[in-house]
Amino acid sequence: MNIGIIVNSQTGHTLEVCEMLKDRLIGQGHAATIDRVTIAGDGSPNPKTFQLEKVPDPSPYEAVVFAGWVEAFSLCRIMVRYLEGTASLSGKKVACLLTQQFPFPWMGGNRALKQMKQRCRAKGATIVGTAIVSWAKSRRDGTMAAAVEELSRNF
Ligand SMILES: Cc1cc2nc3c(=O)[nH]c(=O)nc-3n(C[C@H](O)[C@H](O)[C@H](O)COP(=O)(O)O)c2cc1C
Repeated sequence: MNIGIIVNSQTGHTLEVCEMLKDRLIGQGHAATIDRVTIAGDGSPNPKTFQLEKVPDPSPYEAVVFAGWVEAFSLCRIMVRYLEGTASLSGKKVACLLTQQFPFPWMGGNRALKQMKQRCRAKGATIVGTAIVSWAKSRRDGTMAAAVEELSRNF
């Protein structure tokens, strides 16, 4: 399967998980590509206003993993903006991945994930898997491994 991993990562955590996932998917015989959503500017993790710069097209992929991070108990504004403007996801298998700093999903991840799923479904996607990774040191390795496991068995 041709799988796109469409990610915004401002400080590198989400990208790191996506790279692990990409390697796993390729190991399973899929084609997997990381396609980054970026914003113009100086790379600040939390700019007040922003313009999208790289806006990946999901159309060529048979399945897509959307990946972003938790911002103030919500889906990060960059992925909100991206998903608002993206092409139809009708007929595509979609998985959603989030990273957060706090240790437990109820500390922002669950709410952000709900928002991400709603936005993907509004574009016609079928959600096949979800995962939340905590960047807290005590939970990072375990939640990363679980996310890669969970998301790689959905395609
Ligand atoms: C403005 C801002 C708000 C954040 N809010 C939350 C939050 O509500 N809950 C949480 O667990 N982490 C929060 N974080 C931490 C990020 O979600 C976390 O560091 C994430 O892994 C960053 O992903 P990235 O390195 O791919 O950009 C916040 C970070 C920023 C910059």
